[in-house]
Parts: sequence; C-alpha cells; structure tokens
Amino acid sequence: MRDILEELEDRRAQARLGGGEKRIAAQHSKGKLTARERIELLLDEGSFEEFDMFKTHRCTDFGMEESKPYGDGVVTGWGTVNGRMVYVFSQDFTVFGGSLSETHAEKICKIMDMAVQNGAPVIGINDSGGARIQEGVASLAGYADVFQRNIMASGVVPQISLIMGPCAGGAVYSPAMTDFIFMVKDSSYMFVTGPDVVKTVTNEVVTAEELGGASTHTKKSSVADGAYENDVEALIETRRLIDFLPLSNREKAPVRPFFDDVDRIEASLDTLIPSNPNTPYDMKELIQKIADEGDFFEIQKDFAGNIITGFIRLEGQTVGIVANQPMVLAGCLDIDSSRKAARFVRFCDAFEIPILTLVDVPGFLPGTGQEYGGVIKHGAKLLFAYGEATVPKVTVITRKAYGGAYDVMASKHLRGDFNYAWPTAEIAVMGAKGAVEILYRSELGEPDKIARRTQDYEDRFANPFVAAEKGFIDEVIQPRSTRRRVARAFASLRSKKLTNPWKKHDNIPL
Ligand code: HXC
Repeated sequence: MRDILEELEDRRAQARLGGGEKRIAAQHSKGKLTARERIELLLDEGSFEEFDMFKTHRCTDFGMEESKPYGDGVVTGWGTVNGRMVYVFSQDFTVFGGSLSETHAEKICKIMDMAVQNGAPVIGINDSGGARIQEGVASLAGYADVFQRNIMASGVVPQISLIMGPCAGGAVYSPAMTDFIFMVKDSSYMFVTGPDVVKTVTNEVVTAEELGGASTHTKKSSVADGAYENDVEALIETRRLIDFLPLSNREKAPVRPFFDDVDRIEASLDTLIPSNPNTPYDMKELIQKIADEGDFFEIQKDFAGNIITGFIRLEGQTVGIVANQPMVLAGCLDIDSSRKAARFVRFCDAFEIPILTLVDVPGFLPGTGQEYGGVIKHGAKLLFAYGEATVPKVTVITRKAYGGAYDVMASKHLRGDFNYAWPTAEIAVMGAKGAVEILYRSELGEPDKIARRTQDYEDRFANPFVAAEKGFIDEVIQPRSTRRRVARAFASLRSKKLTNPWKKHDNIPL
C-alpha cells in the first residue's frame, strides 16, 4: 500500500517537473515564470485543483512515442481568486514549447465546458509555439475545438487571456475571442504571421516585438487591453480585474465591503471645468472622485485616449465607466474611440454591469482619414451598443454634448435611465462659433455682428436648461454632489427590468 502511495507522489513530482530542470531554468532565464508558478500566483494559496495531470499525447509520428511527458504541455484545473471560483489553463513552454496537440486541446476544452456549466470565468495563460508540428491536422482540429468553445462561452462567462510568451499563427484567434487580453512587456508577442514571413511577402524588416509585442498591441492595434512589466504584475492585475466581474451571466457582480462615504461631497469638482470652454481638464479626476476609495481599473489605457473605459465601484457594486477625455483630441469621438467604447459597453451589458457615462464631447472627428476609415460604421457601433444595452445607464454631461455625439453618449433617447447635467453643460447641435458661421454666413465680414450672434447663440444653447425643459436632462446637479447623485441613481435601478424584442441575434455594424 505504501508503495502505491509513494508511486502516486513520484508520478506527481514527475508531472510537476514538466519538460525538466534544464528547460525550467531556460524559462526563468528569459524572465518568465513556469506554467505552475503562474497558476500559484494567480489563485488563492492552496486552492488549485488540477485535472488531467497524467494525460499524455497519442502521437506516434516522428518518434513522438519515445517522449510522453505527463500533462502534455498544459496545466488545467480550477481554483479561487479571493474565494471566487475560476477555471484556468496554463501552457507549459517547457513541454514541446507549449505547443498544442490533440490531447492538450482536449484538456483545455474540458475545463471550458465545466466553466460554462458551473458558471465561472476562464483564465487562459498562453505561452506556446502554436500547433504541435508533429501532429498536423489533429492539432488544427484541437484549435478549432477551443475556438468553438470560446464562441459559445462568450457572454456566458468572462474569458481572460494572459499572453506570457509566444502566441502566433491561428493560435491568436482563441485569445482574440476572449473578453480581455493582457500581455507582458518584452516577453510576449502575438501575430498571425511572424517577422520571417512578413519579410518574404512584403519585404518589411520588423522584429517580433515591433510586430506583435505588448506595446504594439496596446498602443497601435488595440488587440490587447493591458501591458504589464512582468508575469507577476500581470497576474496580480488579473486578480484585481476578477474582483470586479460577475462569475457568469447568471450572477451579478460581487458586492465588496466599502469604506467610503457615499454622500462624500467633493467641493473641488465645482471648479473642475475651466472658464475657457476650449481648455482641457482631466476627466480621470472626476472618475476618481466619484469612485469608492478612488479605485479605478482602466481597460485599454494606452489606446484611443480620447475615451476612457474601465471599472469602479459605487457602494461596493461594480460600475462600468465610459468617459470622454478632453485632454486627448478634445475628447472627440473617432473610429478608435468608438470601437473601444462599443466593445466595453457590450461587455458590461452582457454581464449585467451598470454603465456610468461621463460626457464632454465636441462631436465626431472630421477628416478624410476618418471617413475613408469608415467612421460612419464604427461610430454606429457605439450608438448601437448603447441603444441595445438594457443594464442601468446613468449619464452625466459635464460640459460639451454636441451633435450626433450627444445622441450617442448614452442620451435619454437611447434609454438612458438618469441623464444628469452639470450647470456647465452645453448641449447643442454644434459649438457657437461653427453654428454662427453657418447661420449668418453673409455677416462674416462684420466681426461685431458675428460676436453678438455668437453671444446670443451661447446664451441660448451653452447651458443644460433647454434640454432640461424638454425632459432630455432629468436634473441639473451640483458637480460637488455627483458621487451621491450617481450612487443614488444606481441604487434606485437595482431591480431594473428591460428586455429587447426576441431575435436570433442582432446585426451590429461590424
Ligand atoms: C512542436 C515545438 C513547437 C511546435 C516549439 N517546439 N514549437 N514542438 N511543435 N509548434 C519545441 C522545440 O522543438 C523545442 O524543443 C522547444 O519547443 C522550445 O523551442 P525553441 O525553439 O528552442 O524555443 P525558442 O528559441 O524560445 O523559440 C520559440 C518559438 C520557436 C519562436 C516558438 O520554437 C518556433 O518558432 N516554433 C515554431 C512555431 C510555429 O511555426 N508553430 C506553428 C505555427 S502554425 P526542445 O526539445 O529542443 O526543447 C500554427 C497554426 C495554428 O500554430 C492554427 C490554428 C487554426
């Protein structure tokens, strides 16, 4: 009996060694943790329950029957993050470069199926040379099995991908279909075709880092949602994100204890808006002053800075933030910001996370670059996302809300529940100068007249009261009391029920 127990421990120790000491040392020398070390940091201590530790591949080509390491290059199972269940897979680069075989894929699929059945997020840690070359089409089939599960799980359980090494070729499409992608600077990359193929086909000379590193994907392509200095930081931030999210679409987001007065008055907000309407201010200051304990988890911080997206808590409850940022491109909407915010709004709606929209938008960015790039269709994504969302929606207009962008930014007309404005709000078809130049073109040579016209227009429209008279603004509020007003609004919406008409699915302008 004792021998049998010892044998189990021996086998476990062998499985835990993955590809062996030498390859583990090589992994560490690249500044990377091993698959198991990553899981240990991600999950609560001692909470990990492993599946399929002894699973091996079935390949007999290219001498593969000689090497059958336990686990087949991926560690899978479940555990907890601050006591809440998550499923996890972590590719082991020390075993065949973490490459995906038929059995490796089966292990991932098993935990994904369980995650959907039991209603818990899937966190995938990617560190892989891609399809297991020795297995050919069996490996491609394995990828497709994972892809299909990503699609079915979308909107059912949160899916988070951590890229902590190579992720290339078709392998990128599994993370691409998950809700959030976090990368590690200088040790991870994602691309459909690598630098060698790029050189052959297009003659471009580019490094792996330039082509698909964390900086590229968080600043240029927006494929990734966050870039972190190292594995440890990425794992800690993933734990922080999980704390904001519901485990599935069958549950609400967790309510955390909070130590911040919901009635907190922020007198400094009364002077946040500069007296010159063209002077920018930092919208993040408002977000931090509204949030419980000033805690804000930003998504896509380095991309399309003219719109801010992320999560805060109000009275301990998660709230998604979408906010124009006057510091970047005057906070206008454009292709990138519309896409970024639309995807975020849809995530929130899928998982019943209420949305707070902070508006200071001078309109859509003009220009051929935008029109040729399809700003009409991309802008429509955000409009569509807000319009179809049934979660509680509270909007605060701090300053400008001009033109179509007024409609788009969670206006009353798109079923906003509470639409507040600060006294500094300006709600109009366009800014006074532009409006006067169109309405009084014949007087353009007479500066005094134009100045008077501009003043008249400002007096009439550069305020929230015309909209309030029509009921498009529910209430004009003091900036200092924004936290209290917004928190009370969301509290009153906790049992909101709103459903859209039945359909197979919508046809959002992709
Ligand atoms: C089998 C692989 C492998 C793979 C790496 N290895 N990739 N084994 N299938 N795809 C093995 C290596 O043989 C090596 O084994 C070990 O993993 C570590 O690899 P190294 O090359 O020594 O590591 P490194 O120098 O860090 O380079 C990592 C790498 C490189 C850049 C990922 O290994 C590489 O280019 N691999 C091939 C990538 C690739 O072309 N994959 C297929 C893409 S197509 P030993 O025993 O020496 O330690 C694809 C299609 C997916 O993925 C389609 C989905 C629809």
